[in-house]
Amino acid sequence: MGTLSTPPALAPAALPDLVDALVARGWYVGENVLDAALCHELYRELTTLADHDALAAAGIGRGTEHVLRRDIRGDAIHWLDRESLAQRRFLAAMGTLQQALNQALFLGLFEYEAHFAHYPPGAFYKKHLDSFRGRANRVVSTVGYLNPEWPADAGGEMVIFAPDAPEREVARVRPQAGTFACFLADRVPHEVLPTRRPRASIAGWFRRNASLGGRVDPAH
Ligand code: OGA
Ligand code: MN
Repeated sequence: MGTLSTPPALAPAALPDLVDALVARGWYVGENVLDAALCHELYRELTTLADHDALAAAGIGRGTEHVLRRDIRGDAIHWLDRESLAQRRFLAAMGTLQQALNQALFLGLFEYEAHFAHYPPGAFYKKHLDSFRGRANRVVSTVGYLNPEWPADAGGEMVIFAPDAPEREVARVRPQAGTFACFLADRVPHEVLPTRRPRASIAGWFRRNASLGGRVDPAH
């Protein structure tokens, strides 16, 4: 009754489309799905971290196999740690998405991890999957974009390839604030084209714990 309320971080109307697209083809992209004010706050938080050299060069591989490969990926990251209200709002929205995915798809997702990613001009991320089939504790990937504006000639698009024909491009996503992508982590090849501007995103993964050879896969 006349009270100011915060709009939902993730447009509720997008959820049914997202679930349908994941089931039908394994990937979803929507524009204006993340709240504009929230994207702005997260963008400021990430650029402040970048300005203070508080980001870590991103590597590939897990655990003891983790290595830096600038020829494969050139972003710098910071894991979300719930430190700001903006992060907590974003993570709460991902909690809602997790519930929707579990109800519709019986995926048994139980945890979400995410990092800010900052790609300086010239950086890219070569074509990859986010997890390997059969070892998939990362089940569903999310990417939320934070950049207030993104001219058509700025590069830095995320290219999505068909799950069943990994050479066939099916979408090219401009990293514009509000745009949200979601896809099956072990099925959908994707890459980040070289960017000409500093590029800000949040990449995240819904996880299911996989037990491998009697060992439970560690959290990171
Ligand atoms: C990733 C990734 C895509 C993007 O971090 O694994 O594919 O558009 N990111 O930032
Ligand atoms: Mn990826």
